[in-house]
Amino acid sequence: MPDISIAERVSGLRPTAVNRVLQAMRALEAEGRSLVSLMRGQPDTPTPPHIVEAAVRALRDGRTGYPDNRGEPALRRAVADKLRREQGLSYDPDREILITDGATLGIYAALGALLKDHDSVMLPDPIYDAYAGPIALWQAEVTPVPATVRDGRFVFGARELKDRRNTRASVILLNTPWNPVGTVFTRDELAEIVEYAGSGHHDHPVISDEIYETLVYDGRRHVSPAVVSAEARERTIVVNSLSKTYAMTGWRVGYCAGPEPIIRAMFLVLQQSSRGPATFVQDAAACALNSDQECVRGMTAEYQARRDRVVERLRGIPGVEPMVPEGGLFVMLDVRGLGKPSEDVSRYLMRDAGVVVIHGSAYGPGGEGTLRVSFAAGGETLDRGLDRLRQGLLSLAEAARPPR
Ligand SMILES: Cc1ncc(COP(=O)(O)O)c(C=O)c1O
Repeated sequence: MPDISIAERVSGLRPTAVNRVLQAMRALEAEGRSLVSLMRGQPDTPTPPHIVEAAVRALRDGRTGYPDNRGEPALRRAVADKLRREQGLSYDPDREILITDGATLGIYAALGALLKDHDSVMLPDPIYDAYAGPIALWQAEVTPVPATVRDGRFVFGARELKDRRNTRASVILLNTPWNPVGTVFTRDELAEIVEYAGSGHHDHPVISDEIYETLVYDGRRHVSPAVVSAEARERTIVVNSLSKTYAMTGWRVGYCAGPEPIIRAMFLVLQQSSRGPATFVQDAAACALNSDQECVRGMTAEYQARRDRVVERLRGIPGVEPMVPEGGLFVMLDVRGLGKPSEDVSRYLMRDAGVVVIHGSAYGPGGEGTLRVSFAAGGETLDRGLDRLRQGLLSLAEAARPPR
């Protein structure tokens, strides 16, 4: 075997929590164990048929050549129309919108355009763990911004940002609705964060990952930080994707909107990697955005009902408290009352109760003491998973009870 060394910036990368847990799960399944997974954020509903039809039509029409690397003009226009219609935001489709391979490439390109070596990204803790990889690849670091639980929801604001202020911090990365904790930021909370971003010595751009925007419950509305003021629009890069909204995780199509110089730089980054999603996929995405949104409303109602089922089924377990999410696909379970690290709890649940959830500490130290339970899968899978989860947690609660 030749002695070939791997670049340090790559050898330090780790698979995401979902991938690590999937590996452990597959090893157990290979031993013949039957497991129910409540861990992935992959909607189990199929992509709506009119979107599938649009892709098939595009393929039949020969839409198989290289796409416009910025994104097909019709899709960029559809994105601009959507942002105007839903958020009252105005972006020039020729200069201020970029089509990407899912939000994943949007985040990668935004970080690549904005981070200088040894910069730091102000990142809420806990948060979606896949942000760490691209930040490291761009030779930057993370400044964790600890969230606290107030009135049953994880939040942070200008105070926490100021406490963590440092000379290297150059970018703020937000996710609303927020994976894993389910907070949907209010307009006032976003205004406070964006105001902080423009104060002090550094002018921080805000990358706003809005991939769960339509999965908001109890009549709430998603707000982008870009809408809070004209100045906020000038410092915000909106990152979004069709993955969750239209159950299109495998299609790999997303989009970004932001000020022209940043979008231009992101375009250069993207051109060195994927050069955008397949042309026929972009046609289907334009159809999704331009069509009646009834299918989206139907999915939101379905996921709200699932959320309620999870919360109801997991109440009344000693030492365990479900936190009701305002949006997204996950319920966080506060398991501090069980007196064990969350990773031990999730390991026990997988090995002994046959149900797979993710320990909150996978999303940062601020997630310790919680479990992330996904309701992206519904029906019988959700029911069986919840039965096992309830049983497993009851056994742990029983074991944690002091002897009488
Ligand atoms: C917060 C967040 N951002 C981005 C992604 C990835 O999005 P995409 O499928 O559009 O690449 C996920 C996937 O779970 C996510 O939870």
